[in-house]
Amino acid sequence: MAGELYRRPIMFAVVATVVILIGTIVTMFFPMFTEGMHPRLENLKPYTALQLAGKDIYMREGCNNCHTQTVRPLRTEVMRYGEYSKAGEFAFDRPFLWGSKRTGPDLARIGGKYPDAWHYKHFENPQAFFAQSNMPKYGWLQSGKLDPAAMEAHMKVNGFPYTQEEMADLPSKTELDALVAYMQVIGTGVKKAVPVTVAAMAEEKNPLAGDPNAHERGEKVYEKECEACHGDDGRGGIGPRLTDDIWLNKEGDISDGRIYEIIANGTANGMPPYAGQLDKDKIWSLVSYIRHEQHKTK
Ligand code: HEC
Ligand code: HEC
Repeated sequence: MAGELYRRPIMFAVVATVVILIGTIVTMFFPMFTEGMHPRLENLKPYTALQLAGKDIYMREGCNNCHTQTVRPLRTEVMRYGEYSKAGEFAFDRPFLWGSKRTGPDLARIGGKYPDAWHYKHFENPQAFFAQSNMPKYGWLQSGKLDPAAMEAHMKVNGFPYTQEEMADLPSKTELDALVAYMQVIGTGVKKAVPVTVAAMAEEKNPLAGDPNAHERGEKVYEKECEACHGDDGRGGIGPRLTDDIWLNKEGDISDGRIYEIIANGTANGMPPYAGQLDKDKIWSLVSYIRHEQHKTK
């Protein structure tokens, strides 16, 4: 029977086409219309008009030529960037911006990593944070206007919900505002891995208190990790001044152990946690440094 078919080329072509078509329908079209093939994370929300405008600017400026937006499930990547990317977190990304070139770091977990003010300063002058950064300056986006009519059409095409107030608000924002709003929402549909935290330490004393060189070691760590936000010598900037007696907006000094806790665990208002990346000795040396600077200014 099979041998018979091989001798009839036209019939063979027809049968082969039908078989391939059935295969295509089963393996391609069927999954395309199956709900389970389009996962969406439970707390993933469609973009707001401002965030979507920011995504457009991200594409227009070609940020994805230097930045990826996907964390591979490899230990080294998860340690550096956070939870690996999930299939269900790109449901509203049309198109997705996974990218393939990492001149700069991956941005899949950038949302909530820094306060807004950090982004504004960084976009204005990346080299002020990292002298060797080759990221271009984007401060000029501050004078770029947003077009409500274009954004409304864009929201409609995507089928994202929006309100007229939201649209009326757009002309008061700049392109830079939109880009920052977009940065802050990337990756937020994924629950954050529970950060490493330390238990209450208010009673603990600084074991390096008697070490005359501890503050110098602390200064090195400070310059690398903290100065971008807390300014030269802890004088303040994006984060508060560290050399006064106001701690988390409350007047009055706090114990060394409490300072350790703040550095290790971070706060909900923009202080990042460091317990996962700095060891005990480094954090205590930072406490020594902060105390040293505090005494200098008194
Ligand atoms: C020529 C390559 C290049 C381009 C283009 C570029 N960046 Fe960067 N970006 C970098 C490098 C390198 C860094 C790391 C050093 C730094 O923070 O400046 C970085 C860092 C960042 C960070 C901080 C990441 C972190 O986790 O600390 C953000 C946010 C960022 N870029 C956003 C953008 C956006 C948005 C655009 C487009 C408007 C853009 N970048 C364009 C190279 C680039
Ligand atoms: C991305 C910016 C950023 C970086 C980097 C950063 N901080 Fe902070 N820090 C903040 C902000 C914002 C606050 C205010 C938090 C609040 O009010 O809850 C803060 C608060 C603090 C406080 C409480 C001080 C006060 O006066 O309220 C201490 C101590 C502190 N940071 C130390 C550090 C140290 C040490 C480092 C480096 C290891 C560091 N911070 C890195 C942003 C930052």
